[in-house]
Amino acid sequence: MTLVEQAEAVRVRAYAPYSGFLVGAAIRGRGGAVHLGCNVENAAYPEGTCAEAGAIAAMVAAGETVIEEVAVIADAPDPVPPCGGCRQKLAEFAAPDVPVILATTAGARRITTVGELLPGMFSARFLGA
Ligand code: THU
Repeated sequence: MTLVEQAEAVRVRAYAPYSGFLVGAAIRGRGGAVHLGCNVENAAYPEGTCAEAGAIAAMVAAGETVIEEVAVIADAPDPVPPCGGCRQKLAEFAAPDVPVILATTAGARRITTVGELLPGMFSARFLGA
């Protein structure tokens, strides 16, 4: 299965009764394993979590901290980019040149990178001063 196919397989498990917008994310780590996440909404809306955040949590729980590739899929007219917060979360574990494949269930694809999604990011190097 491709990374996008794996993201689609987890997308259908998303818990999104409020938005009806199901998102799946698949992250391939340096060790080669793929870590999956879907969005999990909550009646207290701000407590909902994005698919990317779920995949990152699964990755770290599995002992991986280096992202090599990301795929995100949703049923939308155009490939959906990660939200601002998820861009920062991805950038914590991914170099700027890491590819991010944005996909729709209808088959559209857009390939970008973590650096393109979050130029001028805040990072740990600013904490060292
Ligand atoms: N969502 C994600 O899971 N990832 C994205 O990249 C964009 C938005 C979720 C959050 C919320 O559950 C629903 O999509 C609508 O915003």
